[in-house]
Amino acid sequence: MTISVRSLHPHFVGEVTGVDICRPLSHAEAAAIEAGMDRHAVLVFPDQPLTDEQQCEFSRNFGELEVTLAGQMAKPEHRRFGDRLELGDISNLDGENKLRARDDHRRMYALANQLWHSDASFRAIGAGYTLLHGRVIPGKGGNTEFADMRAAYDALDDATKVEIEDLVCEHSIVFSREQIGWEVQSDGNADKLRPVPHRLVITHPVSGRKSLYLSSHIGGIVGWPVPEARAFIRDLTEHATQREFVYSHAWRVNDLVMWDNRTVMHRARRFNDLKEVRDLRRTSIKGVGLEVAVLQAAE
Ligand SMILES: [Fe+2]
Repeated sequence: MTISVRSLHPHFVGEVTGVDICRPLSHAEAAAIEAGMDRHAVLVFPDQPLTDEQQCEFSRNFGELEVTLAGQMAKPEHRRFGDRLELGDISNLDGENKLRARDDHRRMYALANQLWHSDASFRAIGAGYTLLHGRVIPGKGGNTEFADMRAAYDALDDATKVEIEDLVCEHSIVFSREQIGWEVQSDGNADKLRPVPHRLVITHPVSGRKSLYLSSHIGGIVGWPVPEARAFIRDLTEHATQREFVYSHAWRVNDLVMWDNRTVMHRARRFNDLKEVRDLRRTSIKGVGLEVAVLQAAE
């Protein structure tokens, strides 16, 4: 089989065929996929019936797996995957595989995924790649949308590029939940809620292209009054998510979608989550290259 990539969006999304990612990859296959990520930023692998273990194995080709914050903060009896904290539960099911109630706390927490964000940007080192696998897909709605932050950066006018070049934003999970009126309870995890700094403009370690590191987790810009910072971040987000920069993925069962949080933002779209099951499994890789942004931001 030969790996081939067909464009689903002219600038940044490819569909990959000619590789079975349920079995161990050769070095050449892993390198080809990584090169495809550097070029596109989002890759879709259709018809890949991965088990949880196979998804983790495939993901490890690209770096160290992260444990999920939601998993860390959930009580063990509420986790669907037990101690497997590197597997994120992106579903509307509770610990007993029943649909979550409308006022379920974890449903409230997850609803903020409908805001544009970069995964784990509330951590000192955010996620690099995220890999999401579709197990149960609702009949209508529930797409995931992606916005190309490199194209969005390129389209800024020169004066704005100069103004934002050295800005440092503060990210926390508290800020994204605040936007939908949900207060995150620290429950002994206050250290995980503290804002962390990241540069607004980051450079991809391989392609060298600049992109906007935006996220709904941003609550401030270092040295700026909060209202001015938040209004400006809203403006930039609006600019960066214009339709020309966006691809909307309509899920099929056994799609594996992989994206680079250093070059795209994403958001979930609504569906009738009180009546229909949506069950996706997430793995994510530590964001190599973002440490540089952290160090420079801390100077
Ligand atoms: Fe996400």
